[in-house]
Parts: sequence; C-alpha cells; structure tokens
Amino acid sequence: MRDSKRVAILISGRGSNMRALVEGALGYEVVLVASNKPQAAGLEWAREGGLATWAKDSKGIGKEDYDRLLSDALEGQQVGTIALAGFMRILSSWFVERWAGRIVNIHPSLLPKHRGLDTHARALEAGNSVSGCSVHIVTEELDAGEVLGQAEVPIEPRDTPATLEQRVLAAEHRLYPQVLNEFVLR
Ligand code: GRF
Repeated sequence: MRDSKRVAILISGRGSNMRALVEGALGYEVVLVASNKPQAAGLEWAREGGLATWAKDSKGIGKEDYDRLLSDALEGQQVGTIALAGFMRILSSWFVERWAGRIVNIHPSLLPKHRGLDTHARALEAGNSVSGCSVHIVTEELDAGEVLGQAEVPIEPRDTPATLEQRVLAAEHRLYPQVLNEFVLR
C-alpha cells in the first residue's frame, strides 16, 4: 500500500509552485523534490530548507530509461503522490501507467481551454474575459485528465501576457496546496 500523503514535487525551473506546496502542506508531507534540470533555481531553495532532492539531467538518456531512474528515486522515498510544478517534460507512457491516478499537475488556464504552452497570450488573443488555473490528474493526453480544482482570474482590458501571468501565478499558489491537501485524502 502506498501512502498518498508522501508527496514528491517535480520541477524544472524557478519552483514558485513548489514553494507554495511546501509551505501549504497540511495533510501531506513533501518527501522529495526532483528535477530534470540540475540547475533549477527551485532545487537550491529545497536543499536550503533541508528537503531531500534528486536531480538528473535528462539529456542523452532515452525517455523511458530516464523515467525508470526517476521512478526508482520516487520508490526509494516511498512516494505515494507526485505533484508536477513547472516540470517541462512529457512523461513516458510507461511512467504515466506506472503511477496512474497518482500524478497531478497545475496548468495556467481554465481547462479544457488552452492546453499546452503560451496560455496567457492565447487567452488574450481569444478575447476571453476570464482566465485562471487548473489542477488536474495527469494522463497520457496532454493537460486532459480529470480537473480537481480551478481558480478564476478576471482578465483586465490592459492585460499583457506578463501581467496576466503574474495574477494567475498568485492564484496558482493559493489553489495548488488546497487541492493537493484534499486530493491525498481521497
Ligand atoms: C506555472 O505557471 C505552472 O502553471 C506551469 O508552469 C509554471 C511553473 O512556475 N505548469 P513555477 O516554476 O512553479 O514558478
């Protein structure tokens, strides 16, 4: 039996959502921060805070081979739930199947709108009056798994992708820990 309350966070960059998840952990424990980018700024913060980290550059390693190494690291910490937080790598089918139903992600749009990248520019181009963020279960299809929670952010007439991103990011930091705290109980 895996303990869903043992959470690993996967990052590739600055890790602001990772910080929010660490700081907002009530019903779960962050037992590992892992990254495919050894230089990811978020790793430094995690290390300084005394969290266990795992970092391995995915360059030059086959997709599934890499995911098996990552999976071993997660098993080593008896991880039960994986939270992707700006993890800029598509996981292999093998990995998604191995951890089926136990991987969640935060996406900066109101899914099913604007899957993939450049969500803020696309929300503005589409003339949407509201944007936001979604936490969802990761499945093989990109940004298409069950939505667990969403937060809306109104779009203002003078918004640029950068200003919208800032406000959506603040909403992400509130939403993600809240949804994860609930998710690990189900
Ligand atoms: C966030 O916008 C998140 O929604 C997306 O990637 C970005 C990661 O930012 N998946 P950070 O590394 O958490 O600051």
